[in-house]
Amino acid sequence: MPTNPSPARRSSSPEQALLKTSANRRRLPGRQHSRACSQAHYHASGHSRVLRRIREPGVNLCIWTRPTRQAAAAAVQAILTAPRPIKLDLAAPSLGQIEAGIAESCGASDGVAGTGIRRLSEDILSLAGYFAELAQTRHPRVRLTRVEDNCCALFHVDSLRLRMLCTYAGDGTQWLENSNVCRAELGCQGRTIEAATRAIVLDHSSIRTVSAWQVALLKGRGWAGEEHNAIVHRSSPVSDATRNRLVLCIDLPTGCSC
Ligand SMILES: [Fe+2]
Repeated sequence: MPTNPSPARRSSSPEQALLKTSANRRRLPGRQHSRACSQAHYHASGHSRVLRRIREPGVNLCIWTRPTRQAAAAAVQAILTAPRPIKLDLAAPSLGQIEAGIAESCGASDGVAGTGIRRLSEDILSLAGYFAELAQTRHPRVRLTRVEDNCCALFHVDSLRLRMLCTYAGDGTQWLENSNVCRAELGCQGRTIEAATRAIVLDHSSIRTVSAWQVALLKGRGWAGEEHNAIVHRSSPVSDATRNRLVLCIDLPTGCSC
């Protein structure tokens, strides 16, 4: 048996390691996953360049699979445990505005948490820059929210053109491969969320979840020419284990709140 992986197998390993399903964390073997991605409506890679592929026709989701940045961990923890939930909502913010907003919200402006706030703010600013370039806007709307309820519990598509999400703590966005969704069933249609979910999702064991710190770029039905190819997704359900997620959302200036 060979001891060294082939180049093709090595190149697909970041996706293998970081993409996961919510229900059983099922991972596809490297060769299968690489082949599936090359033909699929989504792309995932350990390099930020993958985000540019959202412009390709037929592609509705790009995931930058990056690891947790420990330098910001203290700030994330301070935000999660602050007495009041953070609600940062800024248009085209500067680094100083982000930093000040976080420090004010969590009351930790110096020491370890203070250093972490700088690192976290730099990360947010960097992602806003990526989004601004891809969405061709000078005024990205940047929101950092401590999520404590089940907003967007139903699988849906966004009405906007493009959205970037990064969950800094807790599970990230859940999404469905196009082959795992019945689009005719989207919307509640008078049903409970549970009943609607059962109708929308064909294989519940294949629901996928973006991991913390990964960056997801989602195409909505506002993307011209792809009104019927928006990515189907929802917020990860809140439970005792995932309570108090910290979510960064970057939109165009006209982006809705949910
Ligand atoms: Fe959404």
